[in-house]
Amino acid sequence: MEVDLRGIFAEKFGDSEGTKEYFSPGRVNLIGEHTDYNGGHVFPCALTMGTYAVARKRTDDMIYLYSANVKHAGVIEASRIALENRKAYGWANYPLGVVWAFSERGKAIDSGFEMVIWGNIPNGSGLSSSASLEVLTGVVLCDLFGYDFSMTDLALIGQFSENNFNGCNCGIMDQFAVANGKKDMAMFLDTSDLSMEYANISLPDAKIVISNSKVKHSLVDSAYNDRRMECSTALEELQTVTDINSLGDLNEEEFEKHKDAIQSDVCRRRAKHAVYENQRTIKAVEALKNNDIATFGKLMNESHVSLRDDYEVSCPELDVLVDLAWSQPGVIGSRMTGGGFGGCTVSIVKNDQVEAFKENVGKGYKEKTGIEAEFYVVDIGDGARVIG
Ligand code: GLA
Repeated sequence: MEVDLRGIFAEKFGDSEGTKEYFSPGRVNLIGEHTDYNGGHVFPCALTMGTYAVARKRTDDMIYLYSANVKHAGVIEASRIALENRKAYGWANYPLGVVWAFSERGKAIDSGFEMVIWGNIPNGSGLSSSASLEVLTGVVLCDLFGYDFSMTDLALIGQFSENNFNGCNCGIMDQFAVANGKKDMAMFLDTSDLSMEYANISLPDAKIVISNSKVKHSLVDSAYNDRRMECSTALEELQTVTDINSLGDLNEEEFEKHKDAIQSDVCRRRAKHAVYENQRTIKAVEALKNNDIATFGKLMNESHVSLRDDYEVSCPELDVLVDLAWSQPGVIGSRMTGGGFGGCTVSIVKNDQVEAFKENVGKGYKEKTGIEAEFYVVDIGDGARVIG
């Protein structure tokens, strides 16, 4: 860790006697985008970048939270009793939402606590800093108060708090990936029943490279919720002609057969993406298991085209990054990753081309957008845990 978090804790709360230390990763999704609220598959992995916490129980009812990334906000104070989302809490609404969600699950904490956090997931980059913080808080609360939720339960609690305390209607992918990550493994998760299989993603001759567009367009949350609604309209219309529970129940042929039941062109394109993306994800994992990384890359590229044209969640900056990546030698596949409208792309790049990739894509992006992109050659790490 680049900061002395226990030192900061002592500075804020007098001493660091009896504290414990925790870590929770960020995530990158390799393929399977906007499928997690459509009963489809996703294929994310946890990063070694993430959020750290040092925490300690108190004897009164007060919760004190400090982020070394948001120093100007100072120490945020709240009582554990009757928690509600408040604008003034800022970033602290994420951990407080998890405290609230624990009590909604019948596991109210019986005293306050103090916690200092610091993270190295670039802000607003779409690498799940909020899910990381939610699951981190879940791990802290279990450890301090002796609750034994499973990691998947902690993911569900994180999602519940984000949906109901923080008002973002996200799916389960991010919290699940952060909670259940495993070194060198990606998670092939079926969101219809939360069954999951790990698949080794440590490639002998290629690296996973994340390119940060450094933009975040303001429509993210409303556009996300619109997409969810368009998919549920499409599902309802399809259910008048075929017996399905989610868009993930259809394969391409079945979709083509029934698609005319969907009234609007927009909803039909959204549903097409959800169905085809789910099938692409299943095929991509199959290809990876057969060491056919070229097919995996081709499916990543197709995923981007579908997100750009049918789902319409890309943006000019992400398209520039992906177009530049596609034109580089040694690029096996490249696509936007996460919710979209800014954030990052993920590319698989041959080891000996990584430096040229960073240089050429960075230069081309700067020329076209005036923005300095950032690149992270990432390692795939373990999920959220107590570290000391
Ligand atoms: C965001 C959400 C996830 C998922 C992705 C798109 O990251 O939090 O649940 O829907 O967008 O795949």
